[in-house]
Amino acid sequence: MSGEIIFRTPITFGWDVFDELPEHIPQGNIMLILGRGSADRLKLKERIGSMMAGEMAVFSGVEPNPSSATVERGAREIRENDPDIIIAAGGGSVMDAAKFMSLIAVHGGTVMDYITGKRTPPDGGLPVYAIPTTPGTSSEITPFTVVTDDRIGNKVGLRHPSLFPRGAIIDPSLTVSLPPRQTAATGLDILSHAVESFWSRNATPLTREFSLRSVSLVREHLQGAYDDGASRPQREGISLASVLAGMAFSNTGTTICHSISYPITYDSGLPHGMAVALSLGPAFELLRKKGFEGLRPLAEAFGSNTRDFRKDLESFMRSIGSPTTLEEAGFTGGEKRIMDTDMTALLRNFPVSLDEGDLEWIIRAIS
Ligand SMILES: [Fe+2]
Repeated sequence: MSGEIIFRTPITFGWDVFDELPEHIPQGNIMLILGRGSADRLKLKERIGSMMAGEMAVFSGVEPNPSSATVERGAREIRENDPDIIIAAGGGSVMDAAKFMSLIAVHGGTVMDYITGKRTPPDGGLPVYAIPTTPGTSSEITPFTVVTDDRIGNKVGLRHPSLFPRGAIIDPSLTVSLPPRQTAATGLDILSHAVESFWSRNATPLTREFSLRSVSLVREHLQGAYDDGASRPQREGISLASVLAGMAFSNTGTTICHSISYPITYDSGLPHGMAVALSLGPAFELLRKKGFEGLRPLAEAFGSNTRDFRKDLESFMRSIGSPTTLEEAGFTGGEKRIMDTDMTALLRNFPVSLDEGDLEWIIRAIS
């Protein structure tokens, strides 16, 4: 268990650091990428525009689970506006979309050209500065982007070193107005990243420490942030958990729980974090049955033990309004729909080899 771990994105973290934006982002002409909910709620366009001196063009309305079409349209607008930098202010979807747009704006092509490996640019796109308004994906510090492609009918992900943003400005005060359901979903995404990173085949002693601390912070603060969104300590705890999980999984990758979640979200619209969390307990159980060593610290970080982890996780999920079965999630696509998802890459990250029967066992466990 060894290995180099890399962090590329300088991080500014703290309550109200958003108000010091010009200290952390270079001046120049800006393309601002915004989503739907948080952009209006937080008046991001007006506040960023008043702090930054350069010309500012805006691409707004990036949807949750952003589509290839949105990414390709945004890339065209970036090329037309020719900015010096891109600022992505919003949730994971906005940051993921902006990172992909920046790559296509410089190197051309379509989303699927990059996903299929037809285009493998040796260098990056325009510099992206990320301002998360939700914790969860940690996209502000990772080399990943996930978008939805309607032509293939699923979510697709890309890992590329140039997808590390040039800077991340993480201000937990921006998450205060996040509604409870999104607080629960993004918190479960953090938990999933931390847990899957912990047992990833690529985990190192260092990434495992980040994972464990992240798991315990989620356990400590998510219920509180869900019940009382205005609480500064709870929101700070969750934002910290998100950074730590991001530091871990940007190095290790995630595993099969993420693959399993993609068709569930695509078909039923269940938020990403809730969809991933569904299979965490069964995956843990499978690892325990197969004699995978080292689950104890993970269970303990969650305030549980290896025997009760799955049960305790499920009651935690229920207490924050998250489904624990596919039926409750409203997913009717059946086992085959999930089994048809290409899981190759994330199966490789799983610490024990799984056959089809194992995957079916996981899916049945949540059916
Ligand atoms: Fe995720």
